[in-house]
Amino acid sequence: MSTRKRALVFDSGVGGLSVLDAIVDADLAVDLDYAADNAWLPYGSKPDAALVARVPALVSALVREWAPDAVVIACNTASTIALDAVRAAVAVPVVGVVPPIKPAAALTKTGVIGLLATPATVARPYVDDLIAKFAADRTVVRFGSTALVGAAERALAGAPVDKSAVAEAIAGLFDAPHGDRIDVVALACTHFPLLAAELAAAAPRAVTWLDSGAAIAARLKTVAGLEDGQARLRRAGFTGPVGAALADAFAARGFTARAVIGADFSVAPAPMDGYA
Ligand code: DGL
Repeated sequence: MSTRKRALVFDSGVGGLSVLDAIVDADLAVDLDYAADNAWLPYGSKPDAALVARVPALVSALVREWAPDAVVIACNTASTIALDAVRAAVAVPVVGVVPPIKPAAALTKTGVIGLLATPATVARPYVDDLIAKFAADRTVVRFGSTALVGAAERALAGAPVDKSAVAEAIAGLFDAPHGDRIDVVALACTHFPLLAAELAAAAPRAVTWLDSGAAIAARLKTVAGLEDGQARLRRAGFTGPVGAALADAFAARGFTARAVIGADFSVAPAPMDGYA
């Protein structure tokens, strides 16, 4: 007999939706809840110690409340600093995001890869270790952008894409030393695949843009023992205020309920029409 499983996808904001989309595209029989710590957005400018304290406490409260079979930390900034602490705090499997440096290093023909992430992620020892392990013989051009996180948040809520944030990120990579030889860019912030078309259009030439979405979906399938089928979206919870446009965007994606996550991490259900 098959039992349908549930997973919780967690991010600071809407970035985890790029991962959720990949899980949906992977045709897995799983019910998906989503939680955004938007009261604390952006994580990329928060001190490491603050994230290591907050993320495990918040995720374990959500696990107690929603009892998922697995958790996906769909945030590079949190995964690269707090994954072990989250795993220690909950009893279910936890899948984190690994910046796609290994596949980027394998794909590049010029030997130069771009790494676009939050300022926190580009500076993490975790990323230095990944580069040392998988891209030691490559040149990695790193650029950290917080503006692009905000741009993705606003774009998802229906605003025009902030072209200056996109241009700044493109210049930060391609105008940097060795940037003229970048042929693969690793998107190591889950917000950025939401702007993949705009980034590609603004780049000085065609390059390969890589994200971790499909790899996370495959990992979730394995650790949670998911069967093939169709994903269903359920609740979307937020720690901060949600405007009507953002609420509509979640409803349009297929979420059928929302939740308000309190400052003490208590979780209160709220009807979809209570968003605005
Ligand atoms: N989506 C997040 C990431 O993958 C972080 C964005 C932020 O809150 O700074 O890094």
